[in-house]
Amino acid sequence: MNTTEKFEYDIEFFNREKEKEEIMRILRAKPNFINFIYGPINSGKTTLITSLIDDLPKDKYAVFYINLRGKLIKEYGGFVRVLFKVKRKEISEKVIEKGEKLAKKALVLAGRYLSGIPIEKDMLDGFLETKSSEDVFEFLEEYFLKISEEKIPVLIIDELQVIGDLEINGKLIYKLFNFFIRLTKELHLCHVFALSSDSLFIEKVYSEAMLKNRCRYLLVDDFDEKTAGKFLEKYGFTEEEIKLANDYVGGKPSLLTTMIDEKKIGRGLNDYVEKGLADSKEEIAQLLYYIKTIGVTIKYQGKDIDVNYENTTEILKNFSGNDFYKYSVITPELCYLVSKNILFVDTREKIIKPQSKFDLLAIREILKEIETK
Ligand SMILES: Nc1ncnc2c1ncn2[C@@H]1O[C@H](COP(=O)(O)OP(=O)(O)O)[C@@H](O)[C@H]1O
Ligand SMILES: [Mg+2]
Repeated sequence: MNTTEKFEYDIEFFNREKEKEEIMRILRAKPNFINFIYGPINSGKTTLITSLIDDLPKDKYAVFYINLRGKLIKEYGGFVRVLFKVKRKEISEKVIEKGEKLAKKALVLAGRYLSGIPIEKDMLDGFLETKSSEDVFEFLEEYFLKISEEKIPVLIIDELQVIGDLEINGKLIYKLFNFFIRLTKELHLCHVFALSSDSLFIEKVYSEAMLKNRCRYLLVDDFDEKTAGKFLEKYGFTEEEIKLANDYVGGKPSLLTTMIDEKKIGRGLNDYVEKGLADSKEEIAQLLYYIKTIGVTIKYQGKDIDVNYENTTEILKNFSGNDFYKYSVITPELCYLVSKNILFVDTREKIIKPQSKFDLLAIREILKEIETK
């Protein structure tokens, strides 16, 4: 049974033809770069990549998708555990009920490994014992080499920033990048995609010398106005409702789907947008209050730096007449607003913009209130 039969209605994957085509073109070419898929939070990066995995011919590609979201990885063992999944035949038949076994089978469709790279249990135990990431990367190289005899391996790591600060005999992220470079630029063995919403992490990656000319960046942004309108139209939104969505919500897919849900269950859309804006406003006002009254510090270039209130409001003033602006340097204040998910940095285009339209409108209202004080 698919979900449209199970539920009265289901919001289907929408649009993204351009992005899908771009990724398909990458997949058809020889692996040569590490591909970074980045964009504001909830713009649809994970949804796009999982939809694409569904579409890929299983006899041609072997896809390994690993999502680090919500994973607490503090040491080497944790990293190894998310990377691998013990092969099902190694799991005792007795422990697993029949139904559960079937569910697991459905998850691990041939050619798609959505929860880790399948290995034997003793292998995993071996990796956990040695505590050296070199062994793991050596094994993985062999592994992908073997797979590439029959299929094109595709390795996708979602929420890569989770291991950004992890140290295992030196920073793990650099070892991982070296391994990615080996798989792509050197051996042309495996496609590598890394996804992240953390634009400061992407900025760090972008300025990393070892990655220069070895990465390709793909922006998955919120929908534009026209696309958002078409999306809502599909779910019976009137022209007036589409205008309301456009004025308040903009093109963020997650907020648009929430609006569709709200309409379906008969809740007022005006209430929804008013509440959304009020929430954003409260959050930003609270941050400014902390900065102004109790003081906030941020780790910046390894140092603890005080976030300056005036500098912060100066940044926000850029949005009183514009939706975005071009930046030249990332200041501590900018860094702070980005880390709090108020602003999004597009490293490639050198553009700063609020994470959502709610945030943009909230910033404008707060600025007006500050001015009239
Ligand atoms: N192309 C799309 N079509 C329909 N809904 C989408 C689409 N992209 C995203 N969404 C909705 O937005 C939500 C957030 O998207 P997600 O992929 O998790 O964002 P990200 O990974 O960029 O943070 C999804 O759960 C889904 O409801
Ligand atoms: Mg995601």
